[in-house]
Amino acid sequence: MHNKARRAFMGQALAGVAGVGAVASLVAMKKTWDPLPSALSAGFTTIDLNSAEAGKLNVVKWRGKPVFILKHTEDLKKNEVRDIIVGSDRFTIVIGLCTHLGCIPSWNPGVKQFKCACHGGEFDSSGVQEFGPPPRPLDIPPFNVKGTDLVLGEEGEQYKKILASTLVS
Ligand code: FES
Repeated sequence: MHNKARRAFMGQALAGVAGVGAVASLVAMKKTWDPLPSALSAGFTTIDLNSAEAGKLNVVKWRGKPVFILKHTEDLKKNEVRDIIVGSDRFTIVIGLCTHLGCIPSWNPGVKQFKCACHGGEFDSSGVQEFGPPPRPLDIPPFNVKGTDLVLGEEGEQYKKILASTLVS
C-alpha cells in the first residue's frame, strides 16, 4: 500500500515536470517564429539610382533575393506597363530569379535579353519571357520611388499601377 502511494506520487511528479518542459519548449519556439523588429525594418532597401549607368546591369540583394536594376539606353524596347520611370530615365527593375525553376538569368547586352542557362529561357529587356519554359515575366518587387531613390519593399504608386495592369492583362 505504501509503495503504491509512492509510485502514484512519483508518476504525478514526472508528469508535472514533463508538462512544464513542454510548455517551456512551446514558448521558446513561439519566440523564434516572431519576427524581430530589426528584421522588419531590414525589409526595406534604399538605392540611389542617380549613379546608375545606362545599359549596365546592377544587382542588389533584397530579402535574400537578387534584384536586377537596368537603366535603359535609347535603343532598348519600351514596355509602357512594366518600365519604371525615375525622373527622365526608364528602368527595368525585376527579381532576378527565373520564373521557371528559379535560376538566376544573366543579362546579355549584345542581344538585349536576360538569358537563363538552366533550360534556355529568354526574357526581353523589360523582363517579359520570349522563349523557353518560363511561364511568366520576371517578377517586379514591391517598390517606391522617392526622388532618385528606389525603396525596395515599399508599395508606391508606380508599383500599384503596374500590379493593377498586369492583373487585368
Ligand atoms: Fe530558367 Fe528553367 S530555370 S529556364
